[in-house]
Amino acid sequence: MTDFDVRPVAEAERRATMDLLGRSLHTNRISDESWAQYGDSWPAAHKFGAFDGDTPIGIASSYDTEIAVPGGAVLPLGAVDGVGVRADRTRRGVLTAMMATQLADFAARGIPLAALHASEPTIYGRFGYGSATLGKTVWLPRPAARLHERVPVGGDVRMLTPEEAVKEIPGLYHRIGLHRAGMIGRPAEWWPIAHDRLTGPAGSHVVAVHSGPGGDDGYVVYDTVDRRTLDSPDEGAVLKVRELQTADPVAHAALWRFLLSIDLVSGVRSRYRPVDEPLAAMLADHRDARTTDVEDDLWLRLVDVATALAARTYRAADPVVLAVTDGRLPANTGHYEVTADGARRTDAAADLALDADTLGMLYLGQWSATALAQAGRIEVRNPGAVASADELFTTIAAPWCGTYF
Ligand SMILES: CC(C)(COP(=O)(O)OP(=O)(O)OC[C@H]1O[C@@H](n2cnc3c(N)ncnc32)[C@H](O)[C@@H]1OP(=O)(O)O)[C@@H](O)C(=O)NCCC(=O)NCCS
Repeated sequence: MTDFDVRPVAEAERRATMDLLGRSLHTNRISDESWAQYGDSWPAAHKFGAFDGDTPIGIASSYDTEIAVPGGAVLPLGAVDGVGVRADRTRRGVLTAMMATQLADFAARGIPLAALHASEPTIYGRFGYGSATLGKTVWLPRPAARLHERVPVGGDVRMLTPEEAVKEIPGLYHRIGLHRAGMIGRPAEWWPIAHDRLTGPAGSHVVAVHSGPGGDDGYVVYDTVDRRTLDSPDEGAVLKVRELQTADPVAHAALWRFLLSIDLVSGVRSRYRPVDEPLAAMLADHRDARTTDVEDDLWLRLVDVATALAARTYRAADPVVLAVTDGRLPANTGHYEVTADGARRTDAAADLALDADTLGMLYLGQWSATALAQAGRIEVRNPGAVASADELFTTIAAPWCGTYF
């Protein structure tokens, strides 16, 4: 017997469910003023709550957007942006029931992929989500770090006022486009919190934009942490890069050159950068680009395995048949032939067997089949197929999300 029901959140229940999420994540309750300003970015649509009578005890929220997959196709995505269970009701199946409802809803609405960022990496594998992109944290000490003389130079960097940034950055993000697998669209409800960090009472973010021959083509958002203390009055500030977005190598170099030119700074720190961002190669001294962490970024769930596998491209290699087991969405369980020309269901014998969460790790190209087989996540039935799967699924640019939600 369960003592709760899972159902869509009604319009009148939006604020109570947001407060519930805030409590489960140990943030403060939202003030009346903030709710008046940002409540619209927590719409009732695509939210499922667990209710004990009329009282919410759990929330699983998502919004509809899109994601780029290898080869450049863009697919509908359910972006899971808020999950929490009231602390006195955890470990009794509330999350499990909400996830089941949410996944069934994605499947019923024809959304082939779902994704999230995990507060704890042990939570979501059981629901078929796999760690699909990694992000690195880099530290560039100042004034030591400077660009190599051969790094391209071009265009101009200008700083925006917060009000200009609120107007210009959403359009610029859209124009830059989803140029790496794993990047996602940012719908209207994503932006208010980012805007609050620019123009809100505690807004501390600063924005600079690069313009090249074709107009604005990149931007960086950062804030500063003052490190001066009584004992070290000369310690400079640290720049914390919140995001740096561009598809253009000249703009990329110019934005880093700008960051490394700011005075009274003891270092630049940037989290969740693409693992293959060539910062070490861009610096005069390789060792001034210090990777201090590599962590899981986007977690991906193939809701419709056939559609998702067919939508991405593959590199040339011998075909491989995957046996996929999906305990949560059993319609996905089956065999899929992956070839250089595409992927489809098949009755042929399987070369490699894997669960839905491992397929989420393989899909964008972040993890090789070899690594996943070594880790015991892929069962190898035909040893020759591992190298073929490596070749088929690999991508030249590492996948990267670049959007926190
Ligand atoms: C994480 C959280 C949502 C889990 O909700 P829940 O209702 O307790 O989960 P369930 O009872 O459905 O548990 C499902 C399974 O996950 C396990 N589990 C639950 N929370 C876990 C955690 N934090 N770490 C590891 N495993 C966890 C349970 O033991 C259970 O395992 P089982 O299927 O082998 O029995 C809840 O603990 C919570 O709200 N935590 C604080 C907020 C948070 O972390 N939100 C996630 C943001 S990404």
